[in-house]
Amino acid sequence: MPQPSTQPFCTCSIVGTGSYVPERVLTNDDLSKIVETSDEWITTRTGIKERRIAAEGENTSDMASEAARRALASAGITAADVDLIIVATVTPDMFFPSTACIVQKKLEAWNAVAFDISAACSGFLYALQTARHFINSGNRKTALIIGAEKLSSLINWTDRNTCVLFGDGAGAVVVRRMEEGDANPPGRILSAVMGCDGSLTDLLKVPGGASAMPVTPENIDQRLNTIHMEGRETFKHAVTRMCQASEQALSMAGLEAKDVNMVIPHQANLRIISAIASRLDIPEERIFVNLQKYGNTSAATIPVALDEASRSGAIKRGDNVLLVAFGGGFTWASTMLTW
Ligand code: ACO
Repeated sequence: MPQPSTQPFCTCSIVGTGSYVPERVLTNDDLSKIVETSDEWITTRTGIKERRIAAEGENTSDMASEAARRALASAGITAADVDLIIVATVTPDMFFPSTACIVQKKLEAWNAVAFDISAACSGFLYALQTARHFINSGNRKTALIIGAEKLSSLINWTDRNTCVLFGDGAGAVVVRRMEEGDANPPGRILSAVMGCDGSLTDLLKVPGGASAMPVTPENIDQRLNTIHMEGRETFKHAVTRMCQASEQALSMAGLEAKDVNMVIPHQANLRIISAIASRLDIPEERIFVNLQKYGNTSAATIPVALDEASRSGAIKRGDNVLLVAFGGGFTWASTMLTW
């Protein structure tokens, strides 16, 4: 079994959050006019009621940049203060340059080094942990960590098994190294866990469109450039891995489930989230859910939810907040914070 990589306490804090979702709303009823489905089926199987779809010409980097601007404003800093930008995405604007480089240009964050991370729905927490290592080592001080996706560009709109699940959006956080004497910094990262099992790559993937299967008229006809998923298997692994990762992050932080004020899980399916809440024995009022509005936006779900939870007062200064994700790869990750 693959072992999780872990990292002891360090002086990294999340000092600002921001999010952006496109204006266009696609409801379950709208989808029932495209494929054979119903609001009732989608709601009972997933909890999703609607999702946002990017406008024509609105790219992942546009959504990422807007979420980033809002996070910078919330942190009270400017783009010039940022020395690291990481964008977690599986829907980059193009193969290269990285979406992070395009974001650097859009923000004019000229002091930052920028790159992307591909870890599907776990991407944001992978990026957060990567930034933590950069900051911990003294290499960088102020990072902009973004989860951004235009999943509508990867959806097969004739496949009811997948097209009802996903949406577009972006979320961002500013992570800073805390200075000596900053005794009680906000958003302090207590522990983090990452894991993956590459033997299960086939269960959730976009098989075509990259170097293993370059775009041809034939594979486009077969929709091989869209999301393919074994839903039931994905569901089972998601519950198991997210529970394990949660328990590991709690134990590394010296906490128990009863100490958690709010869990912000990856927003894929309400039944996955309920199963995790029940196994961890955390009441549902301490689980943050917004998937009814946005569906699964992959790497964006956690930073969007974190931003909403913070702005709405669902999480308050001093709360113990657990972030936990699972996605294609399979990958999983968790982070324990004191907000
Ligand atoms: N509308 C109506 N019927 C549908 C739809 C739909 N949108 N989609 C599937 N069905 C049908 C199927 O065809 C099947 O019909 P059949 O019995 O005649 O063959 C029936 O509903 C049941 O299908 P299942 O796939 O068994 O349904 P299940 O209860 O497993 O729910 C779902 C499917 C929602 C995809 C679930 O398996 C799931 O959420 N899995 C997790 C996947 C996920 O969230 N992936 C995202 C990426 S990974 C991550 O983010 C965690």
